[in-house]
Amino acid sequence: MEQNEYSKIEVYLDADNEPIATYKPPAQMELDTSMLEDGEHTIKFIALDAGNKRSVKKINFVVRNGPGIAVDGLKENDVVEGKLKLILNSFGGAYQENWEPNRAETPAPIPTWMWIIFISIAAWSMFYFINQWNPSQQYANTPTYRSAEILPSDNIGISNISSINGAEIYRKSCSSCHQENGQGLPKVFPSLVGNDVVLSDDPSEQIKTILFGLNGKTINGVKYNTPMPGMADQLSDEEVAAVINHERSSWGNNSRLIKPEQVHKIRINKN
Ligand code: HEC
Repeated sequence: MEQNEYSKIEVYLDADNEPIATYKPPAQMELDTSMLEDGEHTIKFIALDAGNKRSVKKINFVVRNGPGIAVDGLKENDVVEGKLKLILNSFGGAYQENWEPNRAETPAPIPTWMWIIFISIAAWSMFYFINQWNPSQQYANTPTYRSAEILPSDNIGISNISSINGAEIYRKSCSSCHQENGQGLPKVFPSLVGNDVVLSDDPSEQIKTILFGLNGKTINGVKYNTPMPGMADQLSDEEVAAVINHERSSWGNNSRLIKPEQVHKIRINKN
């Protein structure tokens, strides 16, 4: 006689007096918790053997089929006053199979101090950037800030290029002959006012004259007996360019200005 034929297991839920199911062991059962209210429950198994001896097993369990709840801003036993700002979130009910973990993260606003830090960094970097483009006098002529047009050529070692002043060079090196007003002296030194070489778009001849001098040229019908001395040894490319630009923009002259590089080219080609 098989014991199994006479033994059975009854299943009771909570305080019910009637079993929800009766099985012949061994058995497999499915407990659908969705039929139960969320909260604490008790399941009770009563087994009876052939001789009608019974044993009881109770298991307490908690059903939670509803979504989880997160509350930010108020903890158990907090002491509070005034108005409270709470951030609420709920996540992951039993029926949402593919819920994403980030839904369980409670959203928090970006704190004000983060904005303050961000804005100050942005403002500081703009201030710094703008400052770079207005270098103080002390640094204006260092290689970092100097504009490309007045980079020093190979043959000079001038450290303070901003002191190069065409009018000043003209006064020191040229005015004794061509005069302060550029008009020279009749038959002795040619006038630079309205002079073809000074007004020419092509500065080559003017550059050559100042670097290497001039001798025996007839200018506006006048032949000059004294030569113009070359000044390649006294004047740097920058200084030659500056004095040429002074001639080109003074005494009513208004012709195209030049750059030291153009002087440099002619100087190294010796022509
Ligand atoms: C010692 C006197 C003297 C000095 C200093 C002098 N020049 Fe002259 N310059 C002359 C004479 C003289 C001529 C004409 C030479 C000739 O025609 O052969 C001349 C010619 C020129 C010409 C050429 C004009 C033409 O039509 O070809 C220019 C430009 C010029 N000088 C500019 C200058 C500049 C700029 C300086 C200063 C950096 C300078 N000179 C310094 C005496 C001088």
